[in-house]
Amino acid sequence: MPRVAIIGGSGFYSIFENPEQKEVKTPFGDVFLDIGRIRNVEVAFIARHGKKHDIPPAKVNYKANLYALKQIGVERVIATNAVGAINPSLEPGTFVVPDDFIDFTKNRDSTFYDGKTEIVVNGRVLKGVVHVSMTPDPYCPEIRRSILQALKEAGVKFRDGGVYVVTEGNRFETPAEIKAFSYLGGDVVGMTGVPEVVLARELAMCYATLCLVTNYAAGVQGSKKLTHDEVAEIYERNLRYLRDIVARTVELIPISRSCSCGKALEGAIASK
Ligand code: HPA
Repeated sequence: MPRVAIIGGSGFYSIFENPEQKEVKTPFGDVFLDIGRIRNVEVAFIARHGKKHDIPPAKVNYKANLYALKQIGVERVIATNAVGAINPSLEPGTFVVPDDFIDFTKNRDSTFYDGKTEIVVNGRVLKGVVHVSMTPDPYCPEIRRSILQALKEAGVKFRDGGVYVVTEGNRFETPAEIKAFSYLGGDVVGMTGVPEVVLARELAMCYATLCLVTNYAAGVQGSKKLTHDEVAEIYERNLRYLRDIVARTVELIPISRSCSCGKALEGAIASK
């Protein structure tokens, strides 16, 4: 079964030619995923917004997606996200591999550990309260390294590191919000990075994301109106690179883990 998974964001709905399609049942809902091979590695693929892009950011079943991947044996997740640039030096078409995030989501179910649901992690049944650490690395350093190596090889424009601000959506942000996020240290803004990254850590999985800047965020270019069509166009134009970079990342990820993501639950369990 696959050890590696890809979660594709807006516009990225498939990666295999003839995937095996699988339905995985979880306590949080059923998940449809593709299973295929990239070179010699077996990989699972989930289209975050559905194959027809009919699931809005706040309605994505993040818990079911991550739990389904965990159930089939996935340890490492490579995600992709479309983002707007808060930092004006990140022009559209630039790839960013964030190394931190700020959570401005409002109404999302962001934890597996609600005190009553039984969660199985690496054969251990947990039911209670768990506080995972996001320090020192909110994103898996090993997956980040592989993404960065793939970006270097691809010869595309990219930024190593940056703070990803995650908003609730569906609307784009106001200029004042983006100004505030800029003061807070945000570099890029999107709607889907949280709770995915948190839920992966709660299941002791490795997770990192490859962001593609599709636009300057609200107000960064004065009073210019921001449209989804503009976001979709830049994304589509770069999709070929995105697919290749993700596929190369899969190949570059070391088989055994040398990061600490697998130990995320050590010292994190409040109600034992
Ligand atoms: N804001 C929020 N989400 C986004 C943006 C943005 O500017 N661009 C792409 N996804």
